[in-house]
Amino acid sequence: MTFAYRLAALALAMGVATPALALAEAPQSLFMDNCSACHQATGKGVKGAFPPLAGSPLVQGDPKIVITTVLNGRAGMPAFKDDLSDADLAAILTYVRSSWGNKASAIKPTDVVAARAAAKAAAKARGLQAH
Ligand code: HEC
Repeated sequence: MTFAYRLAALALAMGVATPALALAEAPQSLFMDNCSACHQATGKGVKGAFPPLAGSPLVQGDPKIVITTVLNGRAGMPAFKDDLSDADLAAILTYVRSSWGNKASAIKPTDVVAARAAAKAAAKARGLQAH
């Protein structure tokens, strides 16, 4: 009993002692701030303008493709590579892949790091080919 009590007290103390964690923005509010103006809070988008993320095969498919789409933007969608950290992008994409009936695996910050590196290498290769 004493041990369990101590453990609970320790967990509480740690919660209080880690303000950085408490301050990190929740995935849903990151989505609301960066994506919902176009894709809507419902993830359903706006017909004829902004595609739905709810039920999208791309969103629920290969993590590399979803990440690269958001890093680089596409057609009428802005690029987010300079605006969002690896951790924030991973949090947003994990939220998008598991909301509104979507059921796909979580995306880790290290997945975003890898996708950034791959996109850079591809851009470099294209640049070299042009000469
Ligand atoms: C200014 C409006 C706008 C904002 C903000 C925006 N998007 Fe988009 N998004 C679009 C448009 C337009 C497309 C379709 C682009 C095309 O036609 O190729 C799109 C496409 C996508 C796709 C591909 C969907 C599919 O099924 O092919 C994903 C994934 C996506 N957006 C995720 C996001 C995420 C995540 C955010 C926030 C970090 C975001 N978008 C913010 C306008 C926006």
